[in-house]
Amino acid sequence: MERVQILVVEDEGVVARDIQRTLENLGHDVPWVASSAEEAMRISSEQHPSLVLMDIVLQGEMDGMEAAEYIRTHLDIPVVYLTAYADDRVLQRAKVTEPFGYILKPFQERELHSVIETALYKHQMERKLRESERFSTSLLLNSAGPIVVLSPDTSVRYVNPALEALTGFTAGELFGRKAPYPWWTEETLEKTRRDLSEAMQEGATHLEELFQKKSGERFWVEIRSQPVTTEGRLEYYLATWADITERKRTNEFLEKLFVQLAETISTAMAYRDPYTAGHGRRVGELARLVGGKLGLDEGRSKGLYVAGLLHDIGNLSVPEDLLIKRGRMNPEELALLRAHHTRGGYEILSGVEFPWPVADVALHHHERIDGSGYPDGLRGDELSLEVQIVGVCDTVDEMNSSGIYHAARSKKEMLAELTRGRGATYGVDVADAMTGIIRSGELDRVSAE
Ligand SMILES: [Fe+2]
Ligand SMILES: [Fe+2]
Repeated sequence: MERVQILVVEDEGVVARDIQRTLENLGHDVPWVASSAEEAMRISSEQHPSLVLMDIVLQGEMDGMEAAEYIRTHLDIPVVYLTAYADDRVLQRAKVTEPFGYILKPFQERELHSVIETALYKHQMERKLRESERFSTSLLLNSAGPIVVLSPDTSVRYVNPALEALTGFTAGELFGRKAPYPWWTEETLEKTRRDLSEAMQEGATHLEELFQKKSGERFWVEIRSQPVTTEGRLEYYLATWADITERKRTNEFLEKLFVQLAETISTAMAYRDPYTAGHGRRVGELARLVGGKLGLDEGRSKGLYVAGLLHDIGNLSVPEDLLIKRGRMNPEELALLRAHHTRGGYEILSGVEFPWPVADVALHHHERIDGSGYPDGLRGDELSLEVQIVGVCDTVDEMNSSGIYHAARSKKEMLAELTRGRGATYGVDVADAMTGIIRSGELDRVSAE
């Protein structure tokens, strides 16, 4: 270990030499002795001793405490006071300058040893702690991802420069602000507020939020967050953001293209079977409407629209003569038509990685919850909600349109069919939602478009 070099500051020559000898006996080097505060500061600045042993009362303009204050704060050198005065007032004043220990004159060699060892150890620990704090702070400061730290009362405790850069708000503007924060948007306020209170308790891994910059520009972030607790009590809440605006835009664009493509296919199908023109679109619209009534989120409702658009795509695989014969078929022909209509549709769609159960809907939209449907005779929960919804919308649109062999049914007839099938062939919630749509006139609106 490096030898400890001590600066002794003592204005009485005899005492100074005595201390120097004692320290050297203890195995320390004492290359310098200063007799005034000014000299102590000069030697400390130039030589950087490991420790300063400072007499509090010194002759000259400045006393030991002033010098100690400077040496400690500017040079980061531990100072141990040496004093003949056990006066409370002196010690009280000395405490303010945060010495690493006191020794009262006259002192024992053993006492001097332990005070110096303690002071050096304490100083080293403080330095390590400071370094570790500096390291942690620099990690936060230099993190490319925006970071926000909230106190339990939701007030902003810290934001890093990346968050300032993304939002355009400065740390000064944000510090201490409680929710709702200026980066929250009016239209998503309630969702964001709910998400925050949940995340502050349980953390979050993939929270997506729409926020706004100071300029008003909107952006999307994905939030990962962690409540940090001590003995079960929330200490702070740490959230890191990833700006996913570009990803969102790309996805939205792709989704729009995708929906347009499904609409185009649905329209094209009418060229093959003009009697069903507009059926796919109407079933899609109705299914989306039912999804909304049942509280499904926007993504799932959009999936219902696409599934509705394409539910009868299997017709493309039905042989032409069978399509024309419809209604005057023998049982074998009917079975063939149904197989093409459902399994054919599934085959056409199953190769596409839809984010929604579109192929399943094409396959099963003629299934009924009492097992009376086709092609697989599924029952109850075996029919997904999407399948149930499109199934009901399909039936209603067919009743509501005039086909080759039948005129459009009346509202009363449609409502009677839903009442008859409620809980038997159709799911209760789905049948009720559709009943509401017919009664409110929304069905007429969808059909008129
Ligand atoms: Fe169908
Ligand atoms: Fe259909």
